[in-house]
Amino acid sequence: MSEKAYIKLNNTELELPILTGTENEKAIDITKLRDQSGYITLDAGFKNTGATKSAITFLDGERGILKYRGYNIEDLAERSTFLEVAYLLIYGDLPSKDRLEEFRTDIKSKMMVHEDMKMFFAGFPSKSHPMGQLSCLVGALSAFYPESLNPNMSEEEEYKTIINLIGKMPTIVSWIQKKSLGHPVVYPKKDWGYIDNFMNMIFGEVNCDKVFDDAVLDAMRVLLILHADHEQNCSTSTVRIVGSSNANLYASVSAGINALWGPLHGGANQAVIEMLEDIKNDGGDVNKYITKAKDKNDPFRLMGFGHRVYKNFDPRARIIKKACDDVLEKLGVNDPVLDIAKQLEQAALSDQYFIDRKLYPNVDFYSGIIYRALGFKSDMFTVLFALGRLPGWIAQWKEMRDNKEPIGRPRQLYIGETEREYVPLDKR
Ligand code: ACO
Repeated sequence: MSEKAYIKLNNTELELPILTGTENEKAIDITKLRDQSGYITLDAGFKNTGATKSAITFLDGERGILKYRGYNIEDLAERSTFLEVAYLLIYGDLPSKDRLEEFRTDIKSKMMVHEDMKMFFAGFPSKSHPMGQLSCLVGALSAFYPESLNPNMSEEEEYKTIINLIGKMPTIVSWIQKKSLGHPVVYPKKDWGYIDNFMNMIFGEVNCDKVFDDAVLDAMRVLLILHADHEQNCSTSTVRIVGSSNANLYASVSAGINALWGPLHGGANQAVIEMLEDIKNDGGDVNKYITKAKDKNDPFRLMGFGHRVYKNFDPRARIIKKACDDVLEKLGVNDPVLDIAKQLEQAALSDQYFIDRKLYPNVDFYSGIIYRALGFKSDMFTVLFALGRLPGWIAQWKEMRDNKEPIGRPRQLYIGETEREYVPLDKR
């Protein structure tokens, strides 16, 4: 017998269907509630509202489980490549060897960026934040590829748009870094892999390739895979909702980049390092900052702690912590900011306030530390998150289109003035 939910509104009882996901998650379907009763549901921040049915990523915050298309994140992080994961997320299954090779070759052939895109940099002030530049440049790609504006484009055209964006993103990110330093850009190399190419465009120089330690390339691989998707978070929901108006992929992803920017979301990785630097510059008293974080009259929060859905542990943080330790050891990094990070982690994990509220270090706590050790500027950290999240945004945008989802349009409970008489200024 199928399960039903009943809602009693005054003297009327309404029956609502219950839906069960493949991992046995339950949802009460309220789609028809307003038509039947005139009532809406209210859930600020969508803390308990499912916005869509999705077959891409499953996460269980209580048990600390994260899977892409049914594959455990631990297995993918250990053994797969970023482009293989990208294919899996976007197209639903792991590619065959030949298909993966074709996908890689297609992407590599799209890594060059139109030379005119360089002109945008002449207009950005030297202190422009890389995330503002990234969202602008990704949005601007739509101007160079007007065929992508057609909401009814064929599967082939959609594929071309997808590989074009995956191919160009590392080049654009590296140009942002190079331009911010006033350095000439480094072009992608036809025969190099995605990550090697990216790292060389960031840290190499024109006519002087950079050789990276395997541990460094592996840490980047792991970081990109761990960030590749995370179901309906703030930026992903933004991508879906923007795309639901039939906006093109570049515009939708550009909107997602802006949503990711905030320090409560992807911007936390930059905020973590800045917080650690502040603590160091203030004498390194970690307990002072733990006290501040607990004080409800103080707006300070421990950046990199807490998560909307992981209330036990963040499985990505576990994997990344190991990658972090490996990289720091391999590179022999000796950084006082990292000592503060370790002290803060220990202090928070043993403090009752954090234990009671299930506040653990999240993925941003460790990713910022690794990026810093690898030599990235702290304002580039969130851009790196965006590079990793790109396949997830694309997969979610595509799923939303394939499912022919309706335009996103939430309801509200109006609490403003009712009727007021307008009196023109000269009569007041
Ligand atoms: N430091 C101190 N206290 C915190 C923190 C923190 N980092 N995070 C949550 N709390 C407290 C809240 O004050 C609240 O306490 P109360 O119950 O006594 O009022 C309780 O824990 C619950 O917090 P909420 O804000 O209700 O939790 P929510 O799920 O809305 O927020 C969020 C989650 C935004 C991630 C929050 O934990 C936070 O601000 N963390 C710091 C920023 C951060 O690291 N963001 C990255 C998230 S991961 C990502 O986007 C990839």
